[in-house]
Amino acid sequence: MTDTVGVIGAGRMGAAMTARLRSAGVEVVLWNRTAARAAAVAAATGARVAATARGAAAAGPVVLVSLADDAACRAAYDGPDGIVAGAGPGTVVADTSTVAPGTSIELAALVAAGGGAMLDTPVSGSVPVVERGELTVMAGGRVAVLDRARPVLDLLARQIFHVGEHGAGATMKLAVNALVHALNQAVSEALVLAERSGVARRAAYEVFANSVAGGPFVQYKRAAFERPGQTPVAFSLDLVGKDLDLILDLAARSGASMPQAAANRRAVADAVAAGLGDEDMSVLARYLRGLA
Ligand SMILES: NC(=O)c1ccc[n+]([C@@H]2O[C@H](COP(=O)([O-])OP(=O)(O)OC[C@H]3O[C@@H](n4cnc5c(N)ncnc54)[C@H](OP(=O)(O)O)[C@@H]3O)[C@@H](O)[C@H]2O)c1
Repeated sequence: MTDTVGVIGAGRMGAAMTARLRSAGVEVVLWNRTAARAAAVAAATGARVAATARGAAAAGPVVLVSLADDAACRAAYDGPDGIVAGAGPGTVVADTSTVAPGTSIELAALVAAGGGAMLDTPVSGSVPVVERGELTVMAGGRVAVLDRARPVLDLLARQIFHVGEHGAGATMKLAVNALVHALNQAVSEALVLAERSGVARRAAYEVFANSVAGGPFVQYKRAAFERPGQTPVAFSLDLVGKDLDLILDLAARSGASMPQAAANRRAVADAVAAGLGDEDMSVLARYLRGLA
């Protein structure tokens, strides 16, 4: 596939997606709110930088978006220099950001009014998973539109699930992350329990990894939990807090009872209040170690 792909967002995930697309020989036109960040990713990958989100959205038939949260997406889609202005007929905007289902529905309507088409395509898997092209995509929107985005998404993902109409992908992503953030909390607590009770950290993690609980999350966060401070941040604790707010909001709207997610939200809020928001999600273990 030789088409040019527009990428909106040069954060951790946007940068990794750009690198992955470039290594597959795809031209990338990249936009980021902070231009210096886009320039650094472009220098490292050979992507081109667009001056506006509109420019990146107009660069090719498929545009990937990876932005922090709902407010970031609204800001980037809106206005004369926004994504909607650049995404005309023939363009598919595949938004991989984790946002509220209602926001995905709203943005899809805006893009449609501008002549383009949009999908919510949030992803499961962090930076190393992007680098291997092994993300899991949860797609909401029309199947025919998803088929047009598949050649690009296939370069990033091992599996693509079409889960329903606009907003269904976003809903599914929040359900998956309720599980991920519960695992993160549980691994952090269990590790500190073993350590405080006299088992060395690496020995404890070796057993976790080989136990019935040693699933993919436990495997791929191993370096981060074993060697905190020496492993790059993959997913910030601030974004964990954002996800848990979205999850609890969806729970309130849908009537789902989520006592564990509520407890996890309080634990994450305490760690963020202690100044750990920019650190990797695995910093929860360090925070609990400090409390013990
Ligand atoms: N990291 C992961 O492991 C992971 C995995 C799955 C899904 N996700 C989701 O993917 C998305 C990106 O995550 P990330 O880890 O790449 O985040 P990140 O490294 O913090 O990057 C955030 C991006 O959002 C942009 N942004 C923030 N506020 C903005 C605003 N008001 N207007 C325009 N742009 C704004 C930032 O631009 P600036 O550079 O200008 O600040 C940056 O490009 C999030 O929704 C996250 O929940 C992340």
